[in-house]
Amino acid sequence: MKKIRVDASVKYDVLIGKGLLEKSGDFISGITEPCSAVIITDDIVSPLYADKVKKSLEKSGFECDFFVIPNGESSKSLENFEKALELLAEKKLTSSDIIVALGGGVPGDLAGFAAASYLRGIRFVQIPTTFLAAVDSSVGGKTAVNLKAGKNLAGAFHQPSLVICDTDAFLSLPKDVFADGVAETVKYGVLTDSALFDKMGTDFSEDIEEIVARCVQIKAEIVEADEFDKGKRMLLNFGHTIGHAVEKCSEFKITHGHAVAMGMAAAAFAAEKEGISEKGTADKIADTLLKCGLPIASPFKAEELAAAALSDKKRRGDTITFVMPQRIGKCLLKKVSVCDIEKIISEGIEGADMYKAQKTFGQR
Ligand SMILES: NC(=O)c1ccc[n+]([C@@H]2O[C@H](COP(=O)([O-])OP(=O)(O)OC[C@H]3O[C@@H](n4cnc5c(N)ncnc54)[C@H](O)[C@@H]3O)[C@@H](O)[C@H]2O)c1
Repeated sequence: MKKIRVDASVKYDVLIGKGLLEKSGDFISGITEPCSAVIITDDIVSPLYADKVKKSLEKSGFECDFFVIPNGESSKSLENFEKALELLAEKKLTSSDIIVALGGGVPGDLAGFAAASYLRGIRFVQIPTTFLAAVDSSVGGKTAVNLKAGKNLAGAFHQPSLVICDTDAFLSLPKDVFADGVAETVKYGVLTDSALFDKMGTDFSEDIEEIVARCVQIKAEIVEADEFDKGKRMLLNFGHTIGHAVEKCSEFKITHGHAVAMGMAAAAFAAEKEGISEKGTADKIADTLLKCGLPIASPFKAEELAAAALSDKKRRGDTITFVMPQRIGKCLLKKVSVCDIEKIISEGIEGADMYKAQKTFGQR
């Protein structure tokens, strides 16, 4: 098992290894006396893993209740947030009790926001079961629900007290859901680690623990330097400005990781067009995403994406900060004025479209 310490405003461990779900009660006992635990999960994860976690918690003296949401992005809603809070109150949870988020980023973000808000904040534990949640959403303390106007528009910073990542849970993931996590892993590679980037697009199943640990380490370092997203942490938004716009335009039918893949390809080609990146960088990113079974071409026009991006929370006044790759392993933050957003997005998606077309016709 690997253990990574996150030294943010709350200090906590991220445990990564095989067979950890069965031991979750032991691990959680390490951070709290036995108490009441409400497990927030979804209707796909629940029949697969909830019983294992419940049994282990009960063995360690915890009392368990469940809040089960329908799977999928549309469950990250104010309606479910309210229902979760009402359930916590009904079960009379106190500030010495805990919430356990079991599942992917959707139950994780919702449970985290409920934990941040209930009684002005109670402790919660993340048990990620998707590759995406393991490498990204379970660590760092960003919690949220979506509003009609866009992604994650209501939320809070609230760090978990512990993260337990059982890599065996990835074995039941559908291929495209696993690929969502690969997109975020490509992101870390492009941001800081060319060796990690080079592993994407190859079979890395033997190294899965190491890869999760490397991503968590990168995220921990960035969060420790800028927990509240004022500077360096914005780098983690690589691919997300356009990605969130794609998600919104698709009415959340395109999943987060797939949308981020399109967003990264577009940001990379825009960076090339703007003379920011070393020649060939965008091609490398696009090629790797395609090898990972991820899409690079957006089904939406620049105009639609720009309109969606302008309602994103990443907008600050009259600018949006884009993350642009200079080369694999190094990115910069570029403030783009609102009136240039459509041009930048257009350069990006045209570049990605052209790359895909040339690849299809064997010209690359
Ligand atoms: N808080 C953050 O810092 C952060 C970072 C990145 C992404 N996110 C958010 O995370 C969400 C995406 O996360 P996700 O891709 O994990 O989505 P998700 O939670 O919807 O999971 C994807 C699908 O996989 C299923 N699933 C989960 N674990 C499974 C397993 N082990 N076996 C079989 N099926 C399983 C789920 O039921 C769901 O249908 C988005 O809402 C995104 O905004 C948050």
